[in-house]
Amino acid sequence: MYLAHRTFPATRLRRMRADAFSRQLMQEHRLAPQDLILPVFVQEGDNQREAIPSMPGVERLSLDLLLQEAREIADLGIPAMALFPVVGVEGKSELAEEAYNPNGLVQRSVRVLKEAVPELGIITDVALDPYTTHGQDGIIDEQGYVLNDRTVETLVKQALSHAEAGADMLAPSDMMDGRIGQIRQVLEQEQLVNTRIFSYAAKYASHYYGPFRDAVGSAANLGKADKKTYQMDPANSDEALHEVAMDLVEGADMVMIKPGLPYLDIVHRIKKELGVPTFVYQVSGEYAMQMNAIEKGWLSEESMMEALLCMKRAGADGILTYYAKRAAQILRGV
Ligand code: PBG
Repeated sequence: MYLAHRTFPATRLRRMRADAFSRQLMQEHRLAPQDLILPVFVQEGDNQREAIPSMPGVERLSLDLLLQEAREIADLGIPAMALFPVVGVEGKSELAEEAYNPNGLVQRSVRVLKEAVPELGIITDVALDPYTTHGQDGIIDEQGYVLNDRTVETLVKQALSHAEAGADMLAPSDMMDGRIGQIRQVLEQEQLVNTRIFSYAAKYASHYYGPFRDAVGSAANLGKADKKTYQMDPANSDEALHEVAMDLVEGADMVMIKPGLPYLDIVHRIKKELGVPTFVYQVSGEYAMQMNAIEKGWLSEESMMEALLCMKRAGADGILTYYAKRAAQILRGV
């Protein structure tokens, strides 16, 4: 038997680990700047930057400052940026009409970014939570239940407004049923055939999104409500395959699993069983835990690189991470 021959002392697994060169040769997975997508928070104004206390190193930026950031990350070899708007009270309503304003913050940002840094892929978030007074990702009835089909109608308008502004990739993060198909249909109708759809296909109702909700200012609006009637139960794995398969059939080009580190079994299953472009989101809560420990000196910075590498080993083709710029700098030795 094959294994019988691979025993001590003929086989010493430590031999290959003895020097850096042989460790390098047998390395099965690698992290590169090309694997990373940087999520960013954009706000109105000029020369405005606001720190997010729970997320060391992450800031809400006005568009002029975001342009500089876009230039820098493109130069580091990061292929894309995912845009999240910080919307003030004036942009929030029951029906989230601001979501599809052709001159809204996201739509304007996309136009300016594509003009200034054309090679950087711009991904927009398709979901209503920044625009609703109640902080849910969709339109609700009197009981507060998020109405699926009514929400999808608005998401389609939002998606089209992003695509018309020049967004390269639309990322629906709302978890409504059937939205990928409806968005794909309208993109085809409008001959926007190369606008990619990056589906948050397996998005769990996670408690790790807290710092993000603070960053975009939806936490207070959401209050004690949760998103369990549309986001997935953390107990489920088969259901993730079902979600991803449906989104692919409806026309998604890439799929995402979210959160990251506690959900790598899901990443592994999806990549293995479906073999499609599979991405993972290291979400705000994961980032906050690790970065706050690093800031205190309780963990080393290398722990972050390790977490990202482990996501690739699990099967992710790429990673959305607030650490993308720093990781790319480390990888490039700058
Ligand atoms: C909302 C959205 C969320 C995140 C991305 N898009 C939060 C939520 O679902 O409440 C979370 C990202 C993060 O925590 O880093 N559509």
